[in-house]
Amino acid sequence: MEYTNLGWSDLKISRIGLGAWQFSEAWGVVDYEAAKAVIAKAHELGINFIDTAMVYGRGLSEEFIGRALRELGIPREEVVIATKIPGEFLNPDDVFRAVDKSLKRLGVNEIDLLQLHWPPCWHNYPTGAYARALERLVAMGKVVHLGVSNYPVALIEELRSYFSFTDIVSMQYRFNLVERWAEYELIPYAEANDLTFIPWSPLAKGLLSGKYTPENPPEFKDVRSNEAVFHPENFKKMSELLNALKQLAEKYNKTPAQIALNWLLKYSPVIVPIPGAKTPKQVEENAGAVGWELSYDDWRLLDEISKSIKITYVTW
Ligand SMILES: NC(=O)c1ccc[n+]([C@@H]2O[C@H](COP(=O)([O-])OP(=O)(O)OC[C@H]3O[C@@H](n4cnc5c(N)ncnc54)[C@H](OP(=O)(O)O)[C@@H]3O)[C@@H](O)[C@H]2O)c1
Repeated sequence: MEYTNLGWSDLKISRIGLGAWQFSEAWGVVDYEAAKAVIAKAHELGINFIDTAMVYGRGLSEEFIGRALRELGIPREEVVIATKIPGEFLNPDDVFRAVDKSLKRLGVNEIDLLQLHWPPCWHNYPTGAYARALERLVAMGKVVHLGVSNYPVALIEELRSYFSFTDIVSMQYRFNLVERWAEYELIPYAEANDLTFIPWSPLAKGLLSGKYTPENPPEFKDVRSNEAVFHPENFKKMSELLNALKQLAEKYNKTPAQIALNWLLKYSPVIVPIPGAKTPKQVEENAGAVGWELSYDDWRLLDEISKSIKITYVTW
């Protein structure tokens, strides 16, 4: 495994993380032993960066992670736990309540990275008020680092202006070979500010693994039933890209998922993808996206094909 710094901090994180939204009814891994096996494999392979959120399974994902780390006897310093506080908890009282509960579920004394899951778009709490509360948690050692997710640059700038002694270390957004909106403003912002950029849905929710086709889509019992990339209108535009991923997989003796993840890793040194895994085999495959490199020409080939795909989110 390769390691990099979490933003401008000294904290070392693996170049690829583990997304843990899968440990919820949304994705279907609700059996604790199955989640534990995924976490054990990730640790064995040197993946030390685990991404979860308070809303994943309404605490279930955090609970599974805490229990597994304890039962597997994984030393605290060998794991970097990144969780997220939802937008509706971003007010001066609930910030403390939410973090207290999260710490309890995770069974730790401090959260390594607390990310603001999305801006408080429905309640419109004043940014300065919750920024102050977040900074108190850093001052008291309950949170080590702060990060944002799904925040536009203007709101990031405003948030940062309220901090007196700390700053964010990371930004987390949707970014994959077929959904590239983050590259115009957000990734350049991360690069310019020495922040880790964490792509979510780096495999476009499994689509880039090449195992699904328009004729054989996911079973739609999970979160993907509403996912635009799998809508027939979008899915039919993917064949050239999926074919190229398969051909490159043969050329490099890798899998399409590994090619798709390696493309992200090569895009920028600040990128740390967090593919979600439901089985130890998927973790192993995703960890194998690190430690080698697509050639410049092959990276460009995928770049060109992926740029020609225009997804619509107007699917209903
Ligand atoms: N900040 C945010 O708002 C936000 C939003 C979404 C996600 N996230 C985070 O990002 C993480 C990853 O995103 P995601 O779960 O949406 O999508 P993803 O990582 O693109 O896709 C995950 C799914 O792809 C399939 N898969 C994974 N590895 C595979 C492999 N090697 N071969 C074949 N199939 C594979 C699995 O589903 P199947 O086997 O069922 O196909 C898995 O559940 C989440 O776990 C979460 O931590 C954050």
